[in-house]
Amino acid sequence: MQSQVNAGFLGVGMAVPERRLTNADLEKLVDTNDEWIFSRTGIRERRITSSDETSGTLGSLAAKRALEDARVAPEDLDLMICATSSGDYIWPATACIIQKAIGANRAAAFDVGAACSGFVFGLATGANFIRAGQARRVLVIGADTLTKHLNWQDRNTCILFGDGASAAVLGPCAPDEGIMATSLGTDGNGLEQIYLPGGGTRNPLTAEGINQRLNCLVMRGAEVYKFAVRIMGNACLDALCRAQLTPREVDLFIPHQANIRIINAAAERMGLTSERVFVNVDKYGNTSAASIGIALVEALEQKRLHRGSVLVTVGFGAGLTWGANVIRWNRDEA
Ligand code: UT7
Repeated sequence: MQSQVNAGFLGVGMAVPERRLTNADLEKLVDTNDEWIFSRTGIRERRITSSDETSGTLGSLAAKRALEDARVAPEDLDLMICATSSGDYIWPATACIIQKAIGANRAAAFDVGAACSGFVFGLATGANFIRAGQARRVLVIGADTLTKHLNWQDRNTCILFGDGASAAVLGPCAPDEGIMATSLGTDGNGLEQIYLPGGGTRNPLTAEGINQRLNCLVMRGAEVYKFAVRIMGNACLDALCRAQLTPREVDLFIPHQANIRIINAAAERMGLTSERVFVNVDKYGNTSAASIGIALVEALEQKRLHRGSVLVTVGFGAGLTWGANVIRWNRDEA
């Protein structure tokens, strides 16, 4: 039986650091060049946090902007879900830090650990709380500052990532609008294809561990690439099938912004031409859990979504995890 209430978008917001790091800047750090980076990834520049900016501070800023956009007061929030893999502390959750910063004193708050797929997982979780009648106002945040976990001597990884945050306020909407269907998945067999080895209980950080750069992201790029190309199309097609829609009915595709070649391969798999694909990886690099929400904010600014538009979001990342949401846009244009 179809639920009488669905979950839709009431407002969105984003925040990125001021500081830009261009490909030319990276040429001074590692043996690389703008031509290689742009042709292999589509990235021109990325934003980098200062020492006093964190996933918590950027997430709080994005959250405040989403609440303003939604005209929802922080104290009206029932639930906050923060997707991050670069939280301010190992614990408590970064959602607790953001809850304090924005004064959402009634909201239960927790983190989702699904890496770059986190925003999709967070939206799916929040939507189910609303559909179940257990929450009416849910704030989903994607906040990551992975540049703090990069080895700036490793050209395979340090060129890819940037920092940022995004947020969405969800609330009840009509059953034929909002988040229509979701497809989520995980393959723990690939957990060492992209991971952060140090700082947890398995490899507690010691001076020696820091010398070995155990606190830096490790990635088998080619493996992750192949996985991403395969899984993005599959996840989108599965979610579309659950929504009883076909790729032909998709108005806008917002994929996780990791690499333009991965994005193009997924779009091609669904037969989507470039005007139906949103890309801003050139400006921000891979902002992990923040990327889909940042793209959503910019797509709205560019008036590429209207009430009734069919939007497909898809993410993939460490875990390995993946997920897609099919959304029928439920807001009138501003
Ligand atoms: O959210 C999930 C995050 N992760 C990802 O999305 C990563 C997915 N993977 C990728 O995007 C791609 O695999 C990369 C962009 C990381 C690498 O592109 P690739 O086309 O798979 O290159 P490759 O790793 O096969 O390397 C090709 C060559 C190698 O040189 P040799 O061995 O052929 O001589 C690398 O050493 O390019 C070299 N290379 C570089 N050269 C200049 C690797 N990184 C760089 C660099 N600048 N930054």
